[in-house]
Amino acid sequence: MSSAVPLTVKGTIRAPGDKSISHRALIFAAMANGQTRIRDILPSADVHATAAALRAMGVDIPALSEDFVVRGRGLDALHSPEQAFDCANSGTTTRLLTGLVAGLTGRAARFEGDASLSRRPMKRVAAPLSEMGARISFEGAAGHDGLPMRVSGQPLKALRYVNTHASAQVKGALLLAGLCGGVDVTIEEPVRSRDHSERMLAARGVRLEITDTSVTLPAGQVVLPADVVVPSDPSSATFFAALAAMADAGELRLENVCLNPTRTGAFDVLRRMGADIVVEHSADVGGELIGTLVVRPSSLVGTQIGGAEIPRCIDELPIIACVAARARGETRITDARELRVKESDRIRAVVDNLRMLGVEVEEFPDGMRVVGSTAPLSGHVVTHGDHRLAMAFGVLGALPGNHLTIDDPGCVAVSYPAFWRDLTGAVGLGRAPEVAHVGSQSATATPLVVAIDGPAASGKSSTAQWVAQLLDVRHVDSGAFYRALTFLATETGEAPERWTAETLLGHAGRVTWRLTERSVLPLVDGVERDEALRGANVTRNVSRVASMAPVRRWVNSVVRSAGAAVDVVVDGRDIGTAVFPDAQLKIFLVADSWERARRRLIQRLSRRPNDAEIAEEVEALVARDAQDATQSAPARDAITIDTTTVTQEEQVERIVALARATRERLRP
Ligand code: S3P
Repeated sequence: MSSAVPLTVKGTIRAPGDKSISHRALIFAAMANGQTRIRDILPSADVHATAAALRAMGVDIPALSEDFVVRGRGLDALHSPEQAFDCANSGTTTRLLTGLVAGLTGRAARFEGDASLSRRPMKRVAAPLSEMGARISFEGAAGHDGLPMRVSGQPLKALRYVNTHASAQVKGALLLAGLCGGVDVTIEEPVRSRDHSERMLAARGVRLEITDTSVTLPAGQVVLPADVVVPSDPSSATFFAALAAMADAGELRLENVCLNPTRTGAFDVLRRMGADIVVEHSADVGGELIGTLVVRPSSLVGTQIGGAEIPRCIDELPIIACVAARARGETRITDARELRVKESDRIRAVVDNLRMLGVEVEEFPDGMRVVGSTAPLSGHVVTHGDHRLAMAFGVLGALPGNHLTIDDPGCVAVSYPAFWRDLTGAVGLGRAPEVAHVGSQSATATPLVVAIDGPAASGKSSTAQWVAQLLDVRHVDSGAFYRALTFLATETGEAPERWTAETLLGHAGRVTWRLTERSVLPLVDGVERDEALRGANVTRNVSRVASMAPVRRWVNSVVRSAGAAVDVVVDGRDIGTAVFPDAQLKIFLVADSWERARRRLIQRLSRRPNDAEIAEEVEALVARDAQDATQSAPARDAITIDTTTVTQEEQVERIVALARATRERLRP
């Protein structure tokens, strides 16, 4: 790849559904009594977390797809979840659902999340909700006001709350508590935060009194069902507006973008920096302004961003900082302290990464100063699992002369699962980071996911490979990612008993993946290590690694991002339950332990084992099954195939027939 070749961008990007609207569409549908049709929802990890939590409260939400119906039965039908909500990486899921549960008398939920979410402050919702009468307790270390957290719904009293900073999550949580608890609520903010809750509630028959900086919900109202078409997320579209503005030639058309004025601050900032952004065809759709943006390259200059503008571009500041690194002169971002408590400390993380790349940058408590240059940038970006950092630096890495690697490209699954595919489409193959080689699948098709699960040695991996080959789609062996971490841990020489999720995930930055013709190939330090990953030392310890929840979350996010990009057959534990609860076809393979032991030995010894050998292997397998027991339950909608007496060929044929029928339904 010659990096000096000028970059011409071309094409039309339809960024995925707006994240804020997607969460709210599900929550309001769950509260209403009746059917809500939802189209173009964002099928990302964050939104999956909200859907899963609402399902656990008894709401009938089918797999998230381009067009589906939620059958709400009103607030009284919502029950306490049996298990804790897994909010994964999603602050919006946590804060909005805290408000919902807080107002449901007699119902309670425990909230858990990944390491990043668990670090984020929850007192901002807990304090006003407690003032209304809800019972909220933090169950982590003493003094830590974050997850895990227990919320217990109580009869509430009215609240007038003056928030010291603009927060749509806090505002949304208090409105939900008011609706569920049947009490008046007023929220005042220094500057209006994004107002999707207000617009969507108004469309659902809820009367609100709104001024420039306050919202009042009068008591005693119900949320009516109303269909929703989710527009594209302006925060996601901004990555491509920035890319086009920094390119050398061509143009990008960004379709269907939500142009709600509380969300368009980044476009205003880019324009002020000199970007050529033209809005075409804007129209009001369901209470939101939607339009097509046409963005062309131009020469960019630094700017100042602060004050009331910050809430209108808060999520876009990482990409704006990256644009500033390529603009003439300096850019100052201030009044953005809130960035420190997003999915990562985005001030520190952006500053550290830009500095590491050689950009002159200064950190402020509430922002940063970035000095633009044209020097080629190269280095390894540490995302801290933060989706917006991965995408911001992904865009920077696609510019001529720059060569960046991104430690955790899979984390884009939080808000923009197909980001790398769209980036490749806009800049052409060979420009974007190596994860971006994703073939020619059309940008709007829903990828087919065939999930194959089953206990140890049930033949899932070899079956999945064969099925993928016959369907002509890629195979993802999720176990290989656990193996990659295990391999890196064995290399340190530290005793396996001392490994912790934290030390293991310390190696995650060295594991990336690339799409090949046939598979999603894990790479260790950029290199394929298939043989090393299958070594005895790794096999002995991989089960321990795979039993750690944070490690599982990491592998899940990597695998999900692959599955969101292209059609895949995926095998591994929990694939149909935790990783792809929305897979269109789920298979659970079982076989009796004698047969599984026999197959495993044939594979290992390349000959027929004798009975004594099989008996010994059965013991090892039974022990492994016990260790894996919590992970290996089939999904409720999985098709179980007992393979004890069928040949692998028959079993593969059966799965291929099922998959072809599924694909036909998906893309007639
Ligand atoms: C969101 C509100 C914002 C934003 C987040 C989504 C929402 O946070 O950063 O990505 O959907 O309500 P706050 O307004 O709470 O700061």
